[in-house]
Amino acid sequence: MGTSETAPSSTGRIDRLPASAQRFAPSADFTANAVAHADLYAKAEANREGFWADQARELHWHKPFTEVLDWSTPPFARWFADGELNVAYNCLDRHVLAGNGDRAALLWEGEPGDERRITYAELTDEVKRLANVLEGLGIGHGDRVVIYLPMIPEAISAMLAVARVGAIHSVVFGGFAADSLRARIDDAAAKLVITADGGYRKGKVSPLKPAVDQALSDSGSGAQTSVEHVLVVRRGGNDVGWVEGRDLWWHDTITQASPEHRAQPFPAENPLFILYTSGTTGKPKGILHTSGGYLTQVAFTNRAVHDLHPDTDVYWCTADIGWITGHSYVAYGPLANGATQVLYEGTPDTPHPGRWWEIVEKYRVSVLYTAPTAIRSFMKLGRAIPNRFDLSSLRVLGSVGEPINPEAWIWYHEVIGDTKAPIVDTWWQTETGAVMISPLPGVTETKPGSAQVPLPGISIDVVDQSGAPVGNGNGGLLVITAPWPSMLRGIWGDPQRFVETYWEKFRAQGYYFAGDGARFDEDGDLWLLGRVDDVMNVSGHRLSTAEIESALVAHEATAEAAVVGASDETTGQAVAAFVILKQSYLAEHSAEGLAQQLRLWVGEQIGPIARPRDVYIVSELPKTRSGKIMRRLLRDVAEGREVGDTTTLADASVMTVIAANVR
Ligand code: WTA
Repeated sequence: MGTSETAPSSTGRIDRLPASAQRFAPSADFTANAVAHADLYAKAEANREGFWADQARELHWHKPFTEVLDWSTPPFARWFADGELNVAYNCLDRHVLAGNGDRAALLWEGEPGDERRITYAELTDEVKRLANVLEGLGIGHGDRVVIYLPMIPEAISAMLAVARVGAIHSVVFGGFAADSLRARIDDAAAKLVITADGGYRKGKVSPLKPAVDQALSDSGSGAQTSVEHVLVVRRGGNDVGWVEGRDLWWHDTITQASPEHRAQPFPAENPLFILYTSGTTGKPKGILHTSGGYLTQVAFTNRAVHDLHPDTDVYWCTADIGWITGHSYVAYGPLANGATQVLYEGTPDTPHPGRWWEIVEKYRVSVLYTAPTAIRSFMKLGRAIPNRFDLSSLRVLGSVGEPINPEAWIWYHEVIGDTKAPIVDTWWQTETGAVMISPLPGVTETKPGSAQVPLPGISIDVVDQSGAPVGNGNGGLLVITAPWPSMLRGIWGDPQRFVETYWEKFRAQGYYFAGDGARFDEDGDLWLLGRVDDVMNVSGHRLSTAEIESALVAHEATAEAAVVGASDETTGQAVAAFVILKQSYLAEHSAEGLAQQLRLWVGEQIGPIARPRDVYIVSELPKTRSGKIMRRLLRDVAEGREVGDTTTLADASVMTVIAANVR
């Protein structure tokens, strides 16, 4: 098919109207939203805490709460603090007790095409056994467990079993390398690592256990590891090394464990997980989430934003459990709601580029939640591929992780949603725990490219540097102006960094600073404008410029390095590195050879997602008189633009030299 996907769509809508003026009314024939209706906004506005208390009561509380919000020592919030619950019980046992044990919880599809249908009763059984295994290994209340697994059902069981015994999980994305894994294990002082021999990616087994072995070998840091045991799922069938006494096979231990396990209640503020995310320094931040408030908001938003009807929908969120979207909208949200969901192990293009659409057709997926990067790469391949499959089951489409450009929005709406399915563009962060800004399907009107409005119970604004609202039509900084149930409770082991990063900037007003730029349009709808700090967003993954710079300078050939996020048609942003090499190296190696070596080096140090798209070998970096690198100018170069104002540079001729190096 010869249709060019980047040209305006066949209906000519993009031509006819500027995207900001184009609106989609909530469709009249939309089945009633699972929980939301237009009055919800006003209701929540009138009584925010009462609204969230109502949502919290949808969960099972072993001991009901009487307090809602304690904000007496900001920014340390406590929600439902005198209540007690068990997160895993809410995601499993209560559905079985309600008679839904036979409902499928997971419709798992392995990359090679193997499949498993796991009911709520089966998942509950597995998690109870694993909880017994964990307790047998001495894991209990407050202990940290690192989970480093592919997208297999055991990943979900592992998270829930850790939660069930009141311990804290830290899921590390399987694409991270041994060094990143070790840093996270050490920071949390984890006692147990749950991993697999390997998992399927791009048609072959990608090993995981060797990275764990490498991370735990004491060579790097010289220090003794906190890890006592490694529990290994057999998935890839690849050969693995084995440390007797430390390593255990999942299948051996779990079949021997008792299927009886009583879920104990824990206080609402009991920590549930730590999830590391990139900040503006080289050291990732361990974002801490707790139980009651987190589960309340993820369950509510999953029902309202995705319009999830647990008894009829087949839901599929394509995120990996290594990211917050996988925590909130694969593990906790859908299971707390008793939904049926698809879980897919592999990559979208294996063994063919229609794999996702084949899965939608096969399982009759009705709610799909994915990222703009994926949509843009499908768009590039052309509509002929999805058109080969029956996508008529889809009725709600979601987007998350980065701004979705109007063109991709329209394509998603027309080609995937057959112009019927509303699109929810959801803005949130690892730190916010759950969706904060999004239309509600069937309730709010939608507008391609705009994340629209804060959810009921959420209060945001766009302000200038002094904290004053900028008003409609103007750009500024996005802030959250009141506490919300699923807010982060801190940075693991670093309360000061928590205060400084998010709360210091607008301390007088008590606002949370999100790090994003935003603008209200003339209708008061919100547009996200990207990060305003040194955090990059590559394919919806957060990467820190500082972290990649420190990996680059750790290479013996590098004298100095600066990294910027350059805009990229498919991945949103791409990593562009400017590197000054040591003279001795330049004499002996070609610049191209070293640039390639450095790309691979970053991949080995941090993980393939951090590998720079471009490494430019330069002889100078643009610096101000005080020595600060002017990234704005490097971004101009990386994006092929005319270089902007250079008057504050210590040496204005530097940019001419760099531009000449790069071209
Ligand atoms: C960006 C992912 C525009 C934003 C859930 C935020 C978005 C960062 C959107 C958080 C969206 C996320 N529109 N930008 N709908 N959703 N972002 O922690 O810059 O991986 O600060 O959480 O992604 O990324 P994180």
